[in-house]
Amino acid sequence: MTSSAQMKRDSQFVTRALCLALVIVAGASMLLLCADRTAVNRIASISEAMAEEARQRSTLAPPPIPTAGPLAEPKPRQQVGLPVDATRQAVPPDNPQTPEKIALGQKLFFDGRLSADGAVACSTCHDPARAFTDGRPTSMGIKGRVGQRNAPTILNALYNKTQFWDGRVKTLEEQAALPIVNPVEMGQPSVEAAVARIAAISEYQRAFRRVFGRPPNGPDLLRALASYERNADVVQRSVRPFHRR
Ligand code: HEC
Repeated sequence: MTSSAQMKRDSQFVTRALCLALVIVAGASMLLLCADRTAVNRIASISEAMAEEARQRSTLAPPPIPTAGPLAEPKPRQQVGLPVDATRQAVPPDNPQTPEKIALGQKLFFDGRLSADGAVACSTCHDPARAFTDGRPTSMGIKGRVGQRNAPTILNALYNKTQFWDGRVKTLEEQAALPIVNPVEMGQPSVEAAVARIAAISEYQRAFRRVFGRPPNGPDLLRALASYERNADVVQRSVRPFHRR
């Protein structure tokens, strides 16, 4: 083989290699572009869905307030599997469980009027139908505002040593004040602002007087909410269907 023939073959080889590389690069970029388009489209449709949900949420009526039902009935302590001592210890001496208080707490837990726009109740994010969660990666509060954390269940929260993912408060009473004033949850300027809304409703005036012997006020509001939550534990809930009185 002459050296010029050799050179020709070499250059043909290089040209082919270059062409092949070009085809590979072009193909890969097209693939990437398509994948990117799909991802962009997907993100666009997710954000559209979220915006739609936010629109609906901002026009939603508050969730219905249940009449005192099974969730508001104090359960017998003597049940298989119930940690009796831990349950007793979880109830603070200044907030004993009574049926009327639990029923008041239940009403408040489901009442959107505790929130600044009247549309978001505790039960919006702690929905009994979803085991007291909201089934969302992170919660959505007033005016469709999205928070940064996932809503834990309140079932068995009475046994928690601390509340919240970072354990920043200890008791259910202390905890209940924080979503009320959280700007992306219930958005009230203060707990007193929520109390003022509740205190304007004669049914609540009567209920607070009956349960606590005084008009609606912040500490009692939080006591009632905590009482309702203390009645929500997994053992009692799961035993309930088999429990006959
Ligand atoms: C907009 C949604 C939203 C609303 C409304 C809301 N919560 Fe929550 N809740 C959350 C989220 C999110 C967390 C976790 C936040 C964190 O850890 O910082 C949480 C945490 C809790 C916890 C702690 C549970 C645990 O295992 O640590 C309790 C108890 C609780 N909420 C009760 C309530 C009560 C009572 C109300 C009404 C006064 C309420 N929540 C209103 C979203 C909400």
